[in-house]
Amino acid sequence: MTALLELKDVTRRFGGLTAVKDVSFTVEEGALFGVIGPNGAGKTTLFNLISGLYVPDTGSIALAGTRVSGLAPHCVAAQGIARTFQNIRLIGSLSVLDNIKIACHMRRAPTLGSAVIRSAAFERSEADVHVFALQLLDLLQLGTLAHEAAGNLPYGSQRRLEIARALATEPRLLLLDEPAAGMNPQESLELMALIRRLRDTFRLTILLVEHNMKVVMGACERIHVLDHGESIAEGTPEEIRGNATVIEAYLGAG
Ligand SMILES: Nc1ncnc2c1ncn2[C@@H]1O[C@H](COP(=O)(O)OP(=O)(O)OP(=O)(O)O)[C@@H](O)[C@H]1O
Ligand SMILES: [Mg+2]
Repeated sequence: MTALLELKDVTRRFGGLTAVKDVSFTVEEGALFGVIGPNGAGKTTLFNLISGLYVPDTGSIALAGTRVSGLAPHCVAAQGIARTFQNIRLIGSLSVLDNIKIACHMRRAPTLGSAVIRSAAFERSEADVHVFALQLLDLLQLGTLAHEAAGNLPYGSQRRLEIARALATEPRLLLLDEPAAGMNPQESLELMALIRRLRDTFRLTILLVEHNMKVVMGACERIHVLDHGESIAEGTPEEIRGNATVIEAYLGAG
């Protein structure tokens, strides 16, 4: 096993508040790794740091040994990191298929010249994108909804579409921020199985932030716990479930 993602002493402040403080952890290639913690623990801030929306005040983040902290978000994406958002960010008026195709072009953009003259290469790549987008939709059980407006989809389907859109950029590392939020128990269980399947199918490494403990404990092999921006534990689901400091943090927050 080799380290794909490495955080070293990452700190991010907002005015007087330290949202993430000296956080270090390593995610092995191919892992399904959970990040949990009570509300306001710094989980989304951590994702914003990894995906380049925020720059750490101190510390560093590296993907496969290459530093990505300090790069603009589109450069981080080009290195192979994709994410979903806690608050769904689809283009509601566009079809499900077009939401995916736009994301495909973020990695597979033809040169402007080839697009203007509609060269054979451009046509081929458009056809490729179409086939790839449909495959992704099938995999995420959205195939029959390809021509629906994304905004009309039920909530659970919109969450899966967000995942499909992130996959369309062909990442090495996928960050999922509360993918089960708003799903019913049945949908959550199916999502858990789907996340595992995606990891295996695409040989992905997945970082999962999730409040639904059944999903986290069922899907992840290793879990890192934050509280008030600080790391308080890391271990297997069994270790985390029985960890007194973790239980205390959740009880204190509840
Ligand atoms: N852009 C920002 N400006 C100021 N404060 C921020 C900003 N982003 C996050 N924070 C603060 O940082 C802390 C951590 O927030 P964050 O959203 O990372 O928590 P979280 O663990 O994702 O919580 P939740 O489980 O509720 O999603 C909170 O106190 C939040 O108010
Ligand atoms: Mg959050």
